[in-house]
Amino acid sequence: MKRFAFATVSTIAIAAGSSVVAEPQAEVLHWWTSGGEAKSVAVLQEEFASNGGTWTDMPVAGGGGDAAMTALRARVLAGNAPTAVQLKGPAIQEWYEEGVLADISSVAEAEGWADVLPASIAGHMKCEGTWCAAPVNVHRVDWIWANADVLAANGIEMPTTWDEFNAAADKLQAAGVIPLAHGGQAWQDATVFETVVLGIGGPEFFQKALVDLDPEALTSDTMVQAFDQMRTLRGYVDENFSGRDWNLATAMVMNGEAAFQIMGDWAKGEFLAAGKTPGEDFLCASTPGDGYLYNVDSFAMFDVDGDDKKAGQDLLAKLIVAPNFQKVFNLNKGSIPARTDVGLDDFDICANLSAEDMGATSASGSLLPSYAHGMALRGSQAGAITDVVTAHFNSDMSSADAVQQLADAVANSY
Ligand code: BGC
Repeated sequence: MKRFAFATVSTIAIAAGSSVVAEPQAEVLHWWTSGGEAKSVAVLQEEFASNGGTWTDMPVAGGGGDAAMTALRARVLAGNAPTAVQLKGPAIQEWYEEGVLADISSVAEAEGWADVLPASIAGHMKCEGTWCAAPVNVHRVDWIWANADVLAANGIEMPTTWDEFNAAADKLQAAGVIPLAHGGQAWQDATVFETVVLGIGGPEFFQKALVDLDPEALTSDTMVQAFDQMRTLRGYVDENFSGRDWNLATAMVMNGEAAFQIMGDWAKGEFLAAGKTPGEDFLCASTPGDGYLYNVDSFAMFDVDGDDKKAGQDLLAKLIVAPNFQKVFNLNKGSIPARTDVGLDDFDICANLSAEDMGATSASGSLLPSYAHGMALRGSQAGAITDVVTAHFNSDMSSADAVQQLADAVANSY
């Protein structure tokens, strides 16, 4: 059956030569359940509905998407894949290799995606030359968020080196403020770890260690220093950190209970949803060091039967990459548009800094994929690294033992 190409937004697709009417339907699996995330995904639900689509929501709570990916596997194994799935990075390719993704090239070509998406982003959305996913945004992972009043009251500036961060944290701790809001979940440990590796080792080291998985880099003195800094950070989190959701950690910064959070800019979505203003109520700065860790959210369509579902996939793909959605969604989500032709005038200072740094790091070769958010490595490799990072953070394991375990775990993950 030929797929429908939407030359213009149409609410009803009529199959050529027959009287069959396909109304776009989509069951959408995603993990956007926090305040800021829910507000953002609502933008897509509304656009889909106002274009005649019927949206069946399948939210699977759990930051970073681990629970959502487990739910996805169960659905695919049961032969009942959702229509559209929040999926990103190498996981898109892994599902493509299993032969279960739909080809959305007809929409991509009709909409001219190749002309408006940076090549680096388009590369993640293509599977052996065909378009297999639609990008939503660019999240930056290497951010520090801070409560502006707490810093001012303690005479602290946003840190620009890890030593400055540690000095600020010591001062805050002495003043009875929790220095670092953190949730002890594996993906959050991994998020902090990758910013530390980037900051301490620099972009080239990050590439060697966490993208190329070079054994020498994994066991180097630089990696030992990164684990030392993780041990130091462990001393700055409160005793109730275990299992805490990331958005509750953001709330601790919001209400002044804690000073800093190291988290991607979906945290900004939480601040904004709570009515907070960047530069006034909260501050943003990239984590110490050079480089930029990108994390592109995208949706892949799964092979499903039924003209209504196929029409739903085409409509969703078209809306996701269209300029209006890219703007409104990202204003809520904390990220920046994936398209290069959406103006950032209405975006805040953090988003503009992100776009500026993305351009500069892309030119200098220090724009890097986030390992913690599934942009750099296959699932088994990323999982092997995260297991060691979490085991180290939650024990008194030495940094020397951690790097050895890291190299062994990576070697066994292929
Ligand atoms: C996703 C974000 C999401 C965050 C927290 C990241 O991996 O890319 O869209 O907001 O996880 O759930």
